[in-house]
Amino acid sequence: MSNVALTEKDDVIEYLAAHEHKGLLRFITCGSVDDGKSTLIGRLLYDSKLIYDDQLAALESDTKKHGTQGDKIDFALLVDGLAAEREQGITIDVAYRFFSTEKRKFIVADTPGHEQYTRNMATGASTAELAVVMIDARRGVLTQTRRHSYIASLLGIRHIVVAVNKMDLVDFSEKVFREIEADYLEFAEQLDFESITVIPLSALDGDNILTKSRKTPWYDGAALLPYLETIQVRANLSETPFRMPVQWVNRPNLDFRGFSGTVASGSVQPGDEIVVLPSAKRSKVSSIVSMDGDLDEAGPDMAVTLTLEDEIDVSRGDVICAGQAPAEQTDQFAAHLLWMSEDKLYPGRQYFLKTANRVVSATVTELKHKINVNTLEHMSGKTLELNEVAFCNFSLSAPIAFDAYKDNRRTGSFVLIDKRTNATIGAGMIDFSLRRAQNVHWQDLDVDKSARAGAKHQRPCVLWFTGLSGSGKSTVANLVEKRLHDMGRHTYILDGDNVRHGLNKDLGFTDADRVENIRRVAETAKLMADAGLIVCVSFISPFQSERRMARELLADGEFIEVYISTPLEVCEKRDVKGLYAKARRGEIKNFTGIDSAYEPPQLAEVDVDTSDVPAADAADRIVEYLHAKGYLDG
Ligand code: ADX
Repeated sequence: MSNVALTEKDDVIEYLAAHEHKGLLRFITCGSVDDGKSTLIGRLLYDSKLIYDDQLAALESDTKKHGTQGDKIDFALLVDGLAAEREQGITIDVAYRFFSTEKRKFIVADTPGHEQYTRNMATGASTAELAVVMIDARRGVLTQTRRHSYIASLLGIRHIVVAVNKMDLVDFSEKVFREIEADYLEFAEQLDFESITVIPLSALDGDNILTKSRKTPWYDGAALLPYLETIQVRANLSETPFRMPVQWVNRPNLDFRGFSGTVASGSVQPGDEIVVLPSAKRSKVSSIVSMDGDLDEAGPDMAVTLTLEDEIDVSRGDVICAGQAPAEQTDQFAAHLLWMSEDKLYPGRQYFLKTANRVVSATVTELKHKINVNTLEHMSGKTLELNEVAFCNFSLSAPIAFDAYKDNRRTGSFVLIDKRTNATIGAGMIDFSLRRAQNVHWQDLDVDKSARAGAKHQRPCVLWFTGLSGSGKSTVANLVEKRLHDMGRHTYILDGDNVRHGLNKDLGFTDADRVENIRRVAETAKLMADAGLIVCVSFISPFQSERRMARELLADGEFIEVYISTPLEVCEKRDVKGLYAKARRGEIKNFTGIDSAYEPPQLAEVDVDTSDVPAADAADRIVEYLHAKGYLDG
């Protein structure tokens, strides 16, 4: 930044105002370990004089200690803040830097290049408008160049600067540059970019960074910084239709009722027609209240309170939308998903899905294809691993208001959250609503669950038996059903071995197949409870997530978890079906307790170990439990 002498008060105000209204460009830099991207950022910060003298002194001494650039200042040290990175010579986290020139303010996210850090790159990219893709002139377009470009395009970045770095090491050869340029442009045809600008430079020496270098007379484009200062990126958020998720209903007294939130996109003025989702009620904005008094207009990122002309119901979590261009609503959609967890994604498993304004339960109903982030090829797959990307169908427990991600990055994105650990495990970009969601409705039925149960004089419930193979689940479940049947109760038993001969014949014993096995059985048990039956389910059901899903599918108190906690050694010794012996000999893969996990319940309603308690006594205990809790009344 230049040093302006400000004498008059008016000048000061004008100067501040000019800076205040300078546009902001958010960009990311991506490249691999030694493409020189940290050096480039260091150079931008250094040349725009935003490094203070003390930092500079530290940098010079650090350069002597850790630097890899001989006597030249190692700018990468300025950016790679973390000690671990310095030692390995790589960038491992997302570092955000702020700098500013006469013309523009910049926020740059420096994201790591390795494939295992794809999720970090996505974090930096999700708010950026432009990506600087670094290429080492000696190496040309590499696998990671393609990966970074794909992730940038997936995350909605529409402008690319290809920085062909280290031109000094190829004698500033135009031929080398043109080949790389042609290669990149050919590859990028598959991606949805609005502009691609290829610049030859040397981050280390400063060629084509601030000003055009004399060493590339054949290059007629702009130097990097002037280009970044002037490129027109669509003012995306302010031009998209108005959306404001309601954070709270502000009702200090009977005379005032306003809806507070932060504008996600678009703008709003008093008099504008709005529609509130999900109710689809319409009204007009009567005033926009802010900390600085009433406003004539509110735009993206402003925290405001809207009052409306009509007394309509609006609650926290609703979205106020432009009347002429409301968001869509759906409980099923197709989306691209980037998986960010060490634990795999399983279709059929339930996760929390969090949008700008709502949290619902969600499952991937179909993993349509995975995308190889290095080649863009489509691949089939049953699960997703860390840093993989897939195109999937989703089903939600309740409808959400949304826009397609390509139209609105704020209302078109979501994260998936692990229900057990609360960790963020995936990032999603919504493509479109599935039409089937609009065409399938609930049919009202005259005879309902209580009528059906009433006719049988019983209270429906699901006794969910879980435990290892050979633990005694089926034996005990069978005895329980027999006792209930003798008492004149209407029952049914769903047993793993039996159901796997029919409904679930297509499923094996991979984790993904077990998730689907239990999902189908839980849905079946729910239908049977709805029919008014007392249902015994006897499945290993090794994962807590799916047992929890079954519990949540049923009404409160309808799910009774029975843990048959017979230890592995006992089950293995019994080995009624000879399967443990086979598993030990390696003839069966993924055998529960041997080479496939079993997650014991933490809070089962009933817990019996059949190595202590004979099966008949175990069955008695369960029937007693049903009596004591009133399940058998009536
Ligand atoms: S679950 O894990 O998906 O719930 P389920 O209860 O349906 O399993 O089926 C378990 C039964 O399948 C076992 O009792 C056993 O007879 C048989 N089986 C065959 N292969 C395996 C295996 N790899 N792991 C566990 N059980 C197996």
